[in-house]
Amino acid sequence: MLLLTGATGLVGSALLRRLTAAGTPVRCLVRDPRRLGSDRVRVQIALGDLSDPPSFRNALRGVRTVVHLAAVIRDQPGGSIEELNGIATWRMVQAAERAGVEHFVFFSALGATSHDRTRVLRAKAVAEQAVLASDIRHTVFAPSLVYAPGDRLITLLSRLAMILPVMPTSGRGEAVYQPIWAEDVADCVINQLGLAAGVTGHHHERFELAGPQTLSHREIVELVLHAAGRPRRIAAVPAPLVRRALRAGELLMKSRTPITWDEAELLEVSMTSRLGTADVNGLGVTPQQMGAVLGLTSA
Ligand SMILES: NC(=O)c1ccc[n+]([C@@H]2O[C@H](COP(=O)([O-])OP(=O)(O)OC[C@H]3O[C@@H](n4cnc5c(N)ncnc54)[C@H](OP(=O)(O)O)[C@@H]3O)[C@@H](O)[C@H]2O)c1
Repeated sequence: MLLLTGATGLVGSALLRRLTAAGTPVRCLVRDPRRLGSDRVRVQIALGDLSDPPSFRNALRGVRTVVHLAAVIRDQPGGSIEELNGIATWRMVQAAERAGVEHFVFFSALGATSHDRTRVLRAKAVAEQAVLASDIRHTVFAPSLVYAPGDRLITLLSRLAMILPVMPTSGRGEAVYQPIWAEDVADCVINQLGLAAGVTGHHHERFELAGPQTLSHREIVELVLHAAGRPRRIAAVPAPLVRRALRAGELLMKSRTPITWDEAELLEVSMTSRLGTADVNGLGVTPQQMGAVLGLTSA
C-alpha cells in the first residue's frame, strides 16, 4: 500500500492517475474526498489534515511507501505555513517510522534553506531536515516552479489580464526559474519508484527537478499572457508597495484574498538547479518546454 498526501494538487493529481493506471494500491490522505474527482473510487481514503497529526496514524496502517506532497503556501485557519509544512512533515516522518514504513518520498523545493527570505522555503528546509534525519529509506525531490495549464498562477494572470491594460509584477521580476510541467514531475516520481514498465527504481537520495528553460519571473508572465492570447505590457511595482497592498487585502478579505504576500514573495526568489535537467533526464524523462505545454507552437 502506498500513502499519497496532496493527491488533489497539481503534482498529486498527475501522480495519482499514473499510480492507479499502474495498478498500485493507493490510499490518499485527504481533507475532502470529493476533491479527488472520479479517482476517489479507485483508491482507499483516509480522512486527515496536516493540522491533525493523530490522523496520520490511521492513514499509515499497512503502508510501505509514503509520497508526501501535501504542503501549503499560505497560512490556514488550522495552522501556519511553518506548522503545516515543517512540523507536520516531522510528525508524519515520526508516525511513518512507528508504522514500519519502508520508503518515505518527500517534496521539498529548489533553494529551500533555513535562512531563505520566504517563510515557505524556510519551512521546507526544516521539513527536509526531518526527512533526511529519518531512519527510513528516503527520497527527496526538489523542484523548481511546477506548473500546468489552468493552475492557480496561470489562471490568476489570465484573469488579471482580462481587466488590466498593464500587468503589474512585484519588483522587477528578475528572479529566475526552470519551470517544470506537473506531468513531467509525476513521471519522475513513477520512474524513481520503479513503477513504469521496463524502468527499475533509482536509489539516489535527492533529485533536483528542473525544466529545460531558464526563465525570469517577468518572462514567465509574458509567456503565460501570450499563450492566453492577452499580451500585456509589464509594469514593475516596488516590492514594499506590493507587500503593503497584499497585506491590506489579507486583512480585508481574509482567506478569500486571491494572492497573499507569502505567495507573491515566492516569485522573487530564484529556484534553479546547477544540474539543469540532468536529474530529470537521469530518471528517463525529457521535460517539455513551458511554451509548448501552454500551446504556443513557436516555442
Ligand atoms: N508548485 C510549485 O511550484 C512547487 C515548487 C516547489 C516545490 N513544490 C512542492 O511540491 C509538492 C506538490 O506541489 P503542488 O504544486 O502539487 O501542490 P498544490 O497543487 O498546492 O497542492 C497542495 C496539496 O496539499 C493539500 N493540502 C493543503 N493543505 C492541507 C492540509 N491542511 N491537510 C492536508 N492536505 C492539505 C491540498 O489538498 P486540498 O485539496 O485539501 O487543498 C493539495 O492536495 C508540494 O510539497 C510543494 O511544496 C511545488
